Amino acid sequence: MTPTTDPQPNDPQDASRDVLVGRRTLLKSGLIVGATTAVGASLGFVTERRTAAPSVQEAKPTFNVFGSETAEFHGVVQPGIVSRHQANLLMMAFTVREGQTPQDAQRMLRVLTQDAERLMAGKGGLADNDRELAQYPAGLTVTVGVGPHFFDRFGMPERKPHWLQDLPAYRIDQLQERWCGGDLIIQICGDDQIALSNSRRLFVSQLRSWASLRWLQDGFSGARHSRPEGETPRNLMGQVDGTVNPAGTQDNPQVFMENAGVWNGGSTLVIRRIMMILDTWEEVDRVAREDVIGRRIDSGAPLSGVHEHDEPDFDARGPLGFEKIAPYSHVRRARSENSNERIFRRSYNYDNAPESGQAHNTGLVFLSYQASIADQYMPIQQRLADLDALNEWTVPIGSAVCAILPGCREGEYLGQRIIEQAL
Ligand code: HEM
Repeated sequence: MTPTTDPQPNDPQDASRDVLVGRRTLLKSGLIVGATTAVGASLGFVTERRTAAPSVQEAKPTFNVFGSETAEFHGVVQPGIVSRHQANLLMMAFTVREGQTPQDAQRMLRVLTQDAERLMAGKGGLADNDRELAQYPAGLTVTVGVGPHFFDRFGMPERKPHWLQDLPAYRIDQLQERWCGGDLIIQICGDDQIALSNSRRLFVSQLRSWASLRWLQDGFSGARHSRPEGETPRNLMGQVDGTVNPAGTQDNPQVFMENAGVWNGGSTLVIRRIMMILDTWEEVDRVAREDVIGRRIDSGAPLSGVHEHDEPDFDARGPLGFEKIAPYSHVRRARSENSNERIFRRSYNYDNAPESGQAHNTGLVFLSYQASIADQYMPIQQRLADLDALNEWTVPIGSAVCAILPGCREGEYLGQRIIEQAL
């Protein structure tokens, strides 16, 4: 997935400018083939074409087209966690029908695995009439997790890990049932919404013998290539969001489970739908906005530093003796002295049609991956619920947790080692 840099047609250094001059001539002379050449040139084809007019076929703009990019499905861990943060998200939660057997779970996970594998490879589902819609996966990833009641629904309560529990209620919560829970969670991410929507359609229809859709949350980050590679995106409050994260590697024990038997390579996911109260946020001036977060709005630098990735100095004080990073600020409250209390954030923005009485229906589909919810996520969430200046402008309205199944090898299905012990 190597990014490419667009040659600038107006750049005097760029040889393709000569071709653009040629374009005018060709257009004047009414040569359609010439016009096609020029389109190719403005998209980055250079020099040789000036003399030899290409066929229409050759002139297709293949330079910056990333639709055919595929991510690897198989591995020790599932894709879509520490892999590249794509532009779009569809998060789906399913309710599994009660009274099913472990064999049903096995069949369902086989189908799910096959479809995920095929969709990520740009092939379309096995029993699918709409395979062309899957043709351009654009880095599609499918990630599968199971909720706290999954093992009960499939008649194997003894397989449920003790650590797979709903979060406790927090005093800041105003949860709405329509965004909560789920027995089966499927996260679909990618750079092309068509591939995401097509995958959603396929999963909903393929899974209907076992499960029905409970909720669906869509989200987005910056569009691909809309900002320089590596630049941290902003959320819809305008803050640089995603600066501090543990290492995004598959051997990071803060993200993936180790020494966990059949769960090795698994993870856990907390999904919080957090509404932003933008009406009153608009009234807050820049200095106060920075105080709330503890970081600058423009660069994302901590208020004690200069650059985005400077380590925050929570003891630094300003001329009046106050802490530069306020003790009630979001980053101060979110940072723990305990280096095990780290979470891997992979959130997306949402911006849906306002509902009755709302001016905005905007917020974060906040996604937190970690090896342990109890040891890593819950202490941070508890501290933020107790005190965080950001709580004045954010309200959690949805909440779900799931165990992310370990990755699978070729020929295996997701969850195989976990389910087979119950067969
Ligand atoms: C709408 C809700 C939220 C917004 C707008 C938000 C925004 C931000 C921003 C702008 C930063 C600083 C830049 C960065 O490191 O990414 C940050 C850091 C962080 N946030 Fe949030 N956040 C939200 C909710 C949460 C929640 C629910 C949690 C966890 C329970 C959380 C945990 C963290 C952590 C761990 C950091 C890094 C702190 C550090 O520097 O060590 N955030 N957040």
